[in-house]
Amino acid sequence: MEIINSIEEMKARSLEAIKKGMSIGFTPTMGFLHDGHLSLFRKCRRENDIVIASIFVNPIQFGPNEDLGKYPKDLEGDKAKLTSEQVDILFLPNQDELYPEEFKTTVTIRKISDKLCGQSRPTLFDGAATVVLKLLNIVRPQKAYFGEKDWQQLEVISTMVKDLNLDTEIMRVPIVRENDGLAMSSRNSYLSELERKSALSLNKALERAKSLVLQGVNDAVLIKKEIETIISKEPVTQIDYISVCNPSTFIEQRKIDQKILIALAVKVGAARLIDNCIVEKN
Ligand code: PAJ
Repeated sequence: MEIINSIEEMKARSLEAIKKGMSIGFTPTMGFLHDGHLSLFRKCRRENDIVIASIFVNPIQFGPNEDLGKYPKDLEGDKAKLTSEQVDILFLPNQDELYPEEFKTTVTIRKISDKLCGQSRPTLFDGAATVVLKLLNIVRPQKAYFGEKDWQQLEVISTMVKDLNLDTEIMRVPIVRENDGLAMSSRNSYLSELERKSALSLNKALERAKSLVLQGVNDAVLIKKEIETIISKEPVTQIDYISVCNPSTFIEQRKIDQKILIALAVKVGAARLIDNCIVEKN
């Protein structure tokens, strides 16, 4: 696997591939890779001639009291995983080159960035969209891969690509879970044994909510109450939000009569975890 640090070199390498008529698939990450990330690389590998991954812990998407300073890292382990997934190029930009002192631009995707996770993490989506736009401009992929684990991020990025007429197609990859149902996340590494047990309540509550909706319960308040009861029964859980909303606009629904997103964020000890599911009534 080739490793590229410089922006100019990455641009030149992509241009060379484009000139040869090769398709470029791109998967941006913040590293500390797990099987959720790997499923993105696998889809990317199947669908493109050249597979490029990036690892960059993007400071501008973290708030002042968040976990930027202690975000988990394992570059050597990550390189081994990327190599075994047959990733061709790892782009590892350095922070000073990506964000020089005079950097002034932020992208805002209005109306959807301030909902759900955007309420408690107001800089998250502007920061993520800005770095993804920079990376897409540098790598120039035909396709870029994102996970449905971060459903709102996917909507934000897809909206940006559409609104700004970018040439990249945004590809969606389903949530990958541990055998016991916990959605994989780099932040799961923060969990103690007790916290990890409590964290299982997120998926359990979503599954229960889904089955209630499919049984005909259409009162979103009732559904949210049920989720809250299941999660708050567990020790060391602190609910940030539970939302039953439209999957594209994130507007809260009172009555469930169409395709809905059930999304939640819960602090379990020091880790803020998110999970979601889509429910479609037939
Ligand atoms: P990161 O959290 O490293 O995630 C990188 C990609 O992996 C995202 O598209 C995310 O949705 C996907 N992913 C993470 N866990 C997953 C799981 N369990 N199942 C499926 N996909 C999963 O998301 C980011 O980084 C950053 O915000 C980034 C887009 C790189 C911008 O900085």
